Amino acid sequence: MKILITGGTGFIGRKLVAHLKVQHQVVVLSRQGSLAYQLLGHDVQVLDSLDRLDDLNDIDAVINLAGEPIAQGRWNLARKQQLCDSRWLLTEQLVDLIKLSSNPPKVLLSASAIGWYGRQDDRPLDEGCDHPSQEFTHQLCHRWESLALAASSEQTRVCILRIGLVLGLDGGALPKMLPPYRVGFGGPMGEGGQVVSWIHIQDLVRAWLYLLEHEECRGIYNGTAPTPVSNREFSQQLARALKRPHLLHIPAWALRLMMGEAADLVLTGQRVLPRRLQEAGFHFTFPALSQAFVNLLERPQPSK
Ligand SMILES: NC(=O)c1ccc[n+]([C@@H]2O[C@H](COP(=O)([O-])OP(=O)(O)OC[C@H]3O[C@@H](n4cnc5c(N)ncnc54)[C@H](OP(=O)(O)O)[C@@H]3O)[C@@H](O)[C@H]2O)c1
Repeated sequence: MKILITGGTGFIGRKLVAHLKVQHQVVVLSRQGSLAYQLLGHDVQVLDSLDRLDDLNDIDAVINLAGEPIAQGRWNLARKQQLCDSRWLLTEQLVDLIKLSSNPPKVLLSASAIGWYGRQDDRPLDEGCDHPSQEFTHQLCHRWESLALAASSEQTRVCILRIGLVLGLDGGALPKMLPPYRVGFGGPMGEGGQVVSWIHIQDLVRAWLYLLEHEECRGIYNGTAPTPVSNREFSQQLARALKRPHLLHIPAWALRLMMGEAADLVLTGQRVLPRRLQEAGFHFTFPALSQAFVNLLERPQPSK
């Protein structure tokens, strides 16, 4: 297949491209020019702008991951607009190109996030949830998903993956969490009862490949492991995996001071279950957090 991927230079995209390019021809949309080749290898094609394309007639599949990092910077109005525009405008442009194609791609896989659910209590949520909390992350994800779903037609199926906290060592939140834990200063955030719905990067990449390969899959899927945990338990397990004490607690006010409204990302949570992925026959390699941490933190890491 010839696959067009946006956000292919990012944490998730780099891992996914490494798998895809073994079997497929990969075109990566990137603003980074030659750096993209350094990151991904010269066996991919790098495209600097969708404006160069009139349609996607020669593309078989599109994977849409691009977006400004959500946890970076304070969420003032300008930053919120950047977070939205970097996702919405690109998705809209991709969908326009799909619609202009006489031979459109067979599938559009588009990222979303469990922020769609907004802050929730402890109750389990699956893709059928009809009571999202109407806050910024919901508004961002809701429009992002709606724009992508507009590409759906008889020729093109659309799958949306609502991704949870991705655990890996080459990017995302985990490498930033490790330094305080390594010196014994790790601890739960806020009151610690908020639920963390996480996924191992390997399982996330496998989930994207599963949705790509299984033609019967379409619609919304949660990209989270089947065993979400409280923030307190996440912190305990992380300290245990690193064989460090787990003594401190990071108060909510300190996080609000540092991060402003973006502190919601860590101070609130939601218990998200991957019902549709599992019903579709997908099996997790790392269904439990302890297994994910053993794999990531207790074994020697292969060189990149
Ligand atoms: N990592 C997680 O825990 C997590 C959780 C939930 C959802 N997600 C979603 O999954 C997607 C991929 O996540 P990631 O962790 O791989 O992200 P990442 O490492 O920050 O990479 C995102 C990619 O998006 C592109 N990008 C960034 N800003 C852009 C802009 N203004 N315009 C166009 N492209 C832009 C960049 O590509 P170039 O610089 O090459 O153009 C970058 O490589 C994101 O949309 C994210 O919201 C991630």
